[in-house]
Amino acid sequence: MTQTKRVTAPSLLSMKKRGEKIAVLTAYDYTFASLMDGAGVDVLLVGDSLGMVVQGVDDTLPVTLDDVIYHTRAVCRGAKRALVVADMPFMSYQVSPEEALRNAGRLLKETGAGAVKLEGGVNEAETVRRIAAAGIPVMGHVGLGPQSIRQLGAYRVQGKTVKAAERLIEDARAIEEAGAFSLVIEAAPWPVAERVTAGLSIPTIGIGAGPHCDGQVLVYADMLGLFTAFQPHFVRRFIQGGEVVTEAFQEYCRAVKSGEFPSLDESYAMDEGETEKFLRSNSSEQNAPAQPGYEL
Ligand code: KIV
Repeated sequence: MTQTKRVTAPSLLSMKKRGEKIAVLTAYDYTFASLMDGAGVDVLLVGDSLGMVVQGVDDTLPVTLDDVIYHTRAVCRGAKRALVVADMPFMSYQVSPEEALRNAGRLLKETGAGAVKLEGGVNEAETVRRIAAAGIPVMGHVGLGPQSIRQLGAYRVQGKTVKAAERLIEDARAIEEAGAFSLVIEAAPWPVAERVTAGLSIPTIGIGAGPHCDGQVLVYADMLGLFTAFQPHFVRRFIQGGEVVTEAFQEYCRAVKSGEFPSLDESYAMDEGETEKFLRSNSSEQNAPAQPGYEL
């Protein structure tokens, strides 16, 4: 039996050295994790974007550590090859490096994830250092930090002026120096992301940060066209999944309501010769509902 080689934090570094691009997608459940893993996605990020995609809340702030643990467990069961990264949700790492370490430890111990991710630059470097020093691989996240949405007021591209670009580059350097194994750059102009990527030895993973990053990440519901309320400039819909799935749901409703589904071919027959006997009989005992545990 051939064993698939697991993607690890160090293997992402080797991919950068080889110039091999890294494909990352968010995942929140077993079914999609299995499909992505089988398709060759290198890293499955259990992002706190699950707040919007799965829970239907307006931003990532209400997502809890227990929410991330629950979804990461499911994703880990589906990921045979991909590295699973668990996002540290709002207020799970901002209070102190010690609390952050305890929570990062829970994410690894209780889920089987291979790494954690947290947002922040210079301001979170000490926390990254503390977690990484404990042997927990940390993915950084600079540029737009959605957990700061209340402070930012809106989701905006970061680093658009020379001064802001210099701050972003400083953030990226601080996170690498603190021991992160890779770095997400979110919503930054491509020349800035290009310079960060060239200046770091750890791989950069861009989302709205242009083509020069070492890898790319998208929220799966965006790239499948399942989320249609709005389309950020950087999102490519690889399929109009919302339309395809809606058509299937409509077709299902039509088939059920018209009585066309299920057909007898999609139903269970009785044993040979039993159907006729059964139809001739009319005892209430024989009409009793099937008990749990029957074979499908
Ligand atoms: O939560 C998330 O999905 C993320 C990615 C967008 C990078 O942090």
